[in-house]
Amino acid sequence: MVARGTARKSPSKLTARTADKHQLYQRAVQAPELDAQFYSRRFRKYTGRELRVFREDFCGTAVLSCHHVLLHPDNVAVGVDLHRPTLDWGIAHNVNRLLDDEQKKRLILLNENVLDVRSPKADAINALNFSYSVFKKRSQLGAYVKNCFRALKPGGVLFMDAWGGPDVMQQKTDKTRHQGFVYEWEQRVYDPISHEITCAIHFVFPDGTRLQNAFVYDWRLWTLAEIRELFEEAGFEDTHVLWEGTDHDTGTGNGVFRRRERGDMDEAWISIVVGRKPL
Ligand SMILES: C[S@@+](CC[C@H](N)C(=O)[O-])C[C@H]1O[C@@H](n2cnc3c(N)ncnc32)[C@H](O)[C@@H]1O
Repeated sequence: MVARGTARKSPSKLTARTADKHQLYQRAVQAPELDAQFYSRRFRKYTGRELRVFREDFCGTAVLSCHHVLLHPDNVAVGVDLHRPTLDWGIAHNVNRLLDDEQKKRLILLNENVLDVRSPKADAINALNFSYSVFKKRSQLGAYVKNCFRALKPGGVLFMDAWGGPDVMQQKTDKTRHQGFVYEWEQRVYDPISHEITCAIHFVFPDGTRLQNAFVYDWRLWTLAEIRELFEEAGFEDTHVLWEGTDHDTGTGNGVFRRRERGDMDEAWISIVVGRKPL
């Protein structure tokens, strides 16, 4: 409470020294509440069942897993990530803040390689924000998709998002203003021979300070055709692409994903590859 006559302190401005890169990443990149609902709806549409056991591969701070747990009292989430400090940040800032004791029992966090995890068997597995791109060889990504197949229950669904278009092969930095900071997405190097791509996230603050290279990604840019083939080789059926529509006012994605057999020649696009394990 502020006493009458005393000056209100303005909220302290973010600077590179005070900011937390995971907090900013979640604000700039993720929409976990909406995503949890989106994947549950999609799963119901594909299977006629409710999505109960959801595995989030490359879960990072596990915020999407937390929101899956929050959606329904029978929901269980399994988050898998190699990086212990990121999982610990997620426990302190997401799990302990969003979930009560009962809900925490329905969240399993595994500090493991996604290539090795096969249980508990999941209804759906998600690999989002292109994180599987760390696998640079076809054999490695193929092994990952096959492992997902084994780790799913019969009738289970694998969702992997993907990105592309001529714009993503350009050396450039996109800047997006958020309250208290600017999010920068740098496409640093793209090699047309290997399809290897290096990208980085930077955060810039009102006082001019920067969190440079807050996150750096050393990836391969996979095509939808390659990902679909790997799904089919692993045994998935009804493998298809959900293509994002365009907001005609802004020319950017509108968040509405529809099943399409042919895409558009967009400068940049995001889509989701889906495959179902046979019953
Ligand atoms: C781009 S972040 C994704 C964060 C979050 N899932 C999202 O959608 O924004 C990639 C995460 O994948 C993790 N990672 C990379 N290779 C992995 C592997 N083989 N197994 C498990 N986690 C891995 C990293 O530790 C990092 O937290």
